[in-house]
Amino acid sequence: MNATDRETLQRIVRAEMAGLPTTAHDAATGMPLTVVGFGADEVLAALDCMLTTRVTMGAEVRAFEAEWAAWCGRSEGVMVNSGSSANLLMLDALVELGRLKRGDEVIVPAVGWSTTLFPIVQAGLVPVIVDVHPESLCLDPAKARAARTARTKAVMPVHLLGQAADCDYDDLIVLEDACAAHGARHSGRRIGSIGDAASFSFFFSHHITTVEGGIIVTDDAALADAMRSLRAHGWVRERTDKARWIEQFPEIDSRFLFVSAGYNLRPTDMAGAFGRVQLRRLDAWVQQRRANHAEWCAALAGTPGITVFPELPGTDHAGFAFAMIVDGDRRPLMQKLEAVGIETRPISGSNLVRQPAFQRLLEHGSEVRIAGDLTVSDRVHERGFFVGNSHAFGSEHGRRLVDVVRG
Ligand SMILES: Cc1ncc(COP(=O)(O)O)c(C=O)c1O
Repeated sequence: MNATDRETLQRIVRAEMAGLPTTAHDAATGMPLTVVGFGADEVLAALDCMLTTRVTMGAEVRAFEAEWAAWCGRSEGVMVNSGSSANLLMLDALVELGRLKRGDEVIVPAVGWSTTLFPIVQAGLVPVIVDVHPESLCLDPAKARAARTARTKAVMPVHLLGQAADCDYDDLIVLEDACAAHGARHSGRRIGSIGDAASFSFFFSHHITTVEGGIIVTDDAALADAMRSLRAHGWVRERTDKARWIEQFPEIDSRFLFVSAGYNLRPTDMAGAFGRVQLRRLDAWVQQRRANHAEWCAALAGTPGITVFPELPGTDHAGFAFAMIVDGDRRPLMQKLEAVGIETRPISGSNLVRQPAFQRLLEHGSEVRIAGDLTVSDRVHERGFFVGNSHAFGSEHGRRLVDVVRG
């Protein structure tokens, strides 16, 4: 394509997507869970990959990995095709390295996403389900410590809906599920930079998106190497130590040298290109989400029958979504909100032990342990819900939300 045709193409894409990504949203139309957060710049970056036919994982993914890792203050980033894959990969890589052994226990909060919990079983490990804290809705640190046995080797705190979870667990391996907490902080440190490794999701509805996508960040070069081969069939290609392997197995063509029992969890280069543009928008968007969260919490504080979840001292809340717990039946309020276009959802998987999939794990003979009572998780399950937050929302959305909730 010559330069003039390229300019014409860019003009057409920009005209078609004028106004996107939307940085303002008309509160009178309600509050959707997600306001589309990409526009012509992202589409053109992805289109460039397609037009040059460099579509499979390559330079854009590598560049995004480096930029995201730097944003988190980490040395390594390994991009994958979803946040769920990121959770699976970091657990599986620890097993691959022998740092976790089949049968080791991993503490996980009862309230999280389905694919926080299930990859623990898929990696051959034993989930230990612990209640969440009533103020954060994240893993309760005291209950988690009480749940430890000699078999407990790791913990997976979930930074639920943008709330920063405590990650201080002494000698345990800490794997942060930061899939919905881009930009949160705990004790001055960015979420994702605290544990041994952390996962993020870039699904369409998250703070920023690569449509589908995820990443693991870590400072552990050996873990990153293990993840790079497990991500792509188990082959040696993206490992930094590949020369050693190739030398060790001279009889096998190094292009198809498989060194671990891997998967295929690779992202495309379009996703990498998308992510690089999106990252430039992230800080401003997190700031707006945080402002919304603070304002809505302040306006609803003290409302009879409603509990909201303000930022906790020493943390920055990333404002992924706005959670509420209702004293009594939550359905009338959810229906009232939906009736004026304010979309609602349960709080993630709520108490995952009460999901049919959990019963399937037991039927299939998977070992799991429920440690202590799940009182708070049950309250979340029965009475909790969230509405969306967005960089495109502001005070007017807050006023409408508060009017309906108080009304
Ligand atoms: C806490 C948490 N973990 C994991 C995931 C899974 O991410 P993905 O949808 O990219 O697979 C999500 C998705 O929202 C999530 O909220």
